[in-house]
Amino acid sequence: MEHISLYRKYRPKTFEEVIGQDHITKTLQNQVMAGHIGHAYLFTGTRGTGKTSIAKILARAVNCLNPINGSPCGKCENCLNLQKENDINIIEIDAASNNKVDDVREIREKVKFLPVGAKYKVYIIDEVHMLTDSAFNALLKTLEEPPAHIIFILATTEVHKLPQTILSRCVRFDFHLVSVEDLMKHLRKIFDKENIECDEESLKLIATAGEGSVRDTLSIADSIASYCQNKITKEETLKILGTTDYELILTFFDNLRDREVGNILELIDKIEKEGKNLAVFSKDVSKHARNLLVAKTCNDANKILNLPDDVYEKFKIQADSFNEKDLIRYMQVFSSAENELRYTLSVRLLLETTALTAMLGFEVKKN
Ligand SMILES: Nc1ncnc2c1ncn2[C@@H]1O[C@H](COP(=O)(O)OP(=O)(O)OP(=O)(O)O)[C@@H](O)[C@H]1O
Ligand SMILES: [Mg+2]
Ligand SMILES: [Zn+2]
Repeated sequence: MEHISLYRKYRPKTFEEVIGQDHITKTLQNQVMAGHIGHAYLFTGTRGTGKTSIAKILARAVNCLNPINGSPCGKCENCLNLQKENDINIIEIDAASNNKVDDVREIREKVKFLPVGAKYKVYIIDEVHMLTDSAFNALLKTLEEPPAHIIFILATTEVHKLPQTILSRCVRFDFHLVSVEDLMKHLRKIFDKENIECDEESLKLIATAGEGSVRDTLSIADSIASYCQNKITKEETLKILGTTDYELILTFFDNLRDREVGNILELIDKIEKEGKNLAVFSKDVSKHARNLLVAKTCNDANKILNLPDDVYEKFKIQADSFNEKDLIRYMQVFSSAENELRYTLSVRLLLETTALTAMLGFEVKKN
């Protein structure tokens, strides 16, 4: 049977199912109930906190024939249509790959057409900060006078990159990081449904590792549950989260420094076989590069790092075997790969490429 990742399986379908964003869901529910729908919304906030999910719920809610408390009923004709993957009334556009002025012109042409079998056509423009200047200008024209049957929902993790002219035309909602407590409750519910056993301490470790992102929390939970075959223990959780495994990361860095391509590939293989989440590992690598830089350059370094003395000794020795420039490059290359690592289908290949790029010191071009 194909394994569906937990975060895809548990995408919320009503406002009530969304966690940690009450300030947004309540307002939107009220707007739907009152029939006061805006024509342009801007959703901003960290990855995996519910922007796309809420955008889709809103798109269905405004079209639902019998909304319940402002949420889509899930049963009426419109809800059934809009639940289909490629329904023509919900148009999802990834601005990262459709960022040209012609792409936006195409939207402008199409917004003239009325919705089919629905009240509103909803455009969800993801990663909207990636649009080029001329594309923003073209979008502005549409946002200024959108036809009555059109709703725009712009989503972005980097709101500071949006021009003021766009900001001033949208109703803005800031998504919060989700608290460890809320994440724990959410995880518990999902684990119960999936018959996954998990003690309270491990639950907390997983929720904390997710750093406020629901998607990250669920994807970490996923890899731990499958490694533990649905009986999660603290010991295995710690092992997989890699929080105490200094030796491994030290070895990894020795090999980066010595440009041992073969050893790096073998280590990544080992890490994957041990069931570690490679995206988490990648984050540990950026963190370690930063720790080494602190150990190397700061006077009272361990006041900042707070490591046990014997561990700090090892870090310090390793730190002195690197030059600053290399450490800074590792930080840069690994942290910019973090985001991609969450989405790619071949995490391992990407991690390998990242490690080799960092090691050999090519210029990394960002788009
Ligand atoms: N607030 C939330 N409540 C419940 N589940 C959530 C929430 N946020 C995220 N999720 C889970 O994470 C998955 C991804 O969420 P979503 O696509 O809405 O995030 P996003 O904010 O759009 O992230 P990105 O910035 O990466 O596009 C959902 O399918 C769901 O399982
Ligand atoms: Mg999204
Ligand atoms: Zn409905």
